Amino acid sequence: MSIKPINVGLLGIGTVGGGTFTVLQRNAEEITRRAGRPIRITMVADRNLDLARKITEGSCRVTDDAFAVVSDPDVDIVVELIGGYGVAKELVMKAIANGKHVVTANKALLATHGNEIFEAAQDKGVMVAFEAAIAGGIPIVKAVREGLTANRIEWVAGIINGTTNFILSEMRDKGLAFDVVLKEAQRLGYAEADPTFDIEGVDAAHKITLLASLAFGIPVQFDKAHIEGISKLDAIDIKYAEQLGYRIKLLGISKRTEEGVELRVHPTLIPSKRLIANVEGAMNAVLVQGDAVGPTLYYGKGAGAEPTASAVIADLVDVTRMHTADPENRVPHLAFQPDAMSDLKILPMDDVITSYYLRLRVQDKPGVLADITRILADEQISIGAVIQKEPGEGEAQADLIMLTHQTRERRINAAIMKIEALGVVAGKVTKLRMEELGK
Ligand code: HSE
Repeated sequence: MSIKPINVGLLGIGTVGGGTFTVLQRNAEEITRRAGRPIRITMVADRNLDLARKITEGSCRVTDDAFAVVSDPDVDIVVELIGGYGVAKELVMKAIANGKHVVTANKALLATHGNEIFEAAQDKGVMVAFEAAIAGGIPIVKAVREGLTANRIEWVAGIINGTTNFILSEMRDKGLAFDVVLKEAQRLGYAEADPTFDIEGVDAAHKITLLASLAFGIPVQFDKAHIEGISKLDAIDIKYAEQLGYRIKLLGISKRTEEGVELRVHPTLIPSKRLIANVEGAMNAVLVQGDAVGPTLYYGKGAGAEPTASAVIADLVDVTRMHTADPENRVPHLAFQPDAMSDLKILPMDDVITSYYLRLRVQDKPGVLADITRILADEQISIGAVIQKEPGEGEAQADLIMLTHQTRERRINAAIMKIEALGVVAGKVTKLRMEELGK
């Protein structure tokens, strides 16, 4: 076993960087036995020099100039943990240009600029590894790209944002409103101070964009993803869904259909009996359906110092093992050979086919249901279940909940417009999508 260490330059020593440092040190012996040689952090860049010095305790060079790391001749692998698409992109591109391998947890960067980054890496014969970018510690990149490589993957659906899953779990458990739980999530440190990317579904969309590329061999196309978060979700719908045997989860979904690829993030009703419906709190889970293997489920922590470090270090070991291999013989970045990518289009949301939960506030009088079902029938929409809640004491209006069979989004939207125009329906119709997540 060669004992010459491989040298790592770390950009950012915050939560994940600190975790990477700690785990690499703690498990150095086992990691070396696996990698074939020691993996050593030789240089750290962080704006907070005091913090960097405190964590590294004199074991490596510390700088506040990240560009010095990506240009350092002794650094073999650059670990980018800065985040965002600004300076992080410049640093990654510079590292690649300098012939360095890159390990990154930056889903925002790869979902928006991945095609350019992977192409540059390909040209230069270096690897860009990103296990930590999707679902933190869950080895989902490895599973989809390598473990399931025999399969024609049919769909992927995941709870890939811990903050929103925590919020939804609390809303359901305690019957609390979104705003109240969000404050609790912030107090506990789950949500970012500005939690927009989490609650509006953008973070999940970055991750499902990457998963879709790995599953179907298509370029990353974040700009074509349909994105809805949970900020407008009403606690009453969580309650009604539960009464009907469903849980509401923020899912990232990507499906291959004959017409193209669905790529969407939105609150979704899923049957309570599914394992994935029971993933609670800040945990993540990804369900992948392959034609040969059937459904497979991956569960674990999607964030946090050591869970994410687990993924970063797995990539470091991979790169250490593979960096001397002929670049042509390495595992392709997006699972499929770069010259064999598919141009399957991303479907516009109007063309997506799924089933729906509708909640309407209606006048409690004869003929109302008939008017509504007529509109649905005219749009060829078949009804799976209808429940009318008893009006409250002295109220003339009642909540009506309808579950539809599968239909096209365009049709349900057309029906909703007509239903909202009926005099007997008050306000807007609440529409949520449902997924059986069976075969
Ligand atoms: N903000 C993310 C989440 C963690 O809440 O899951 C990192 O991807």
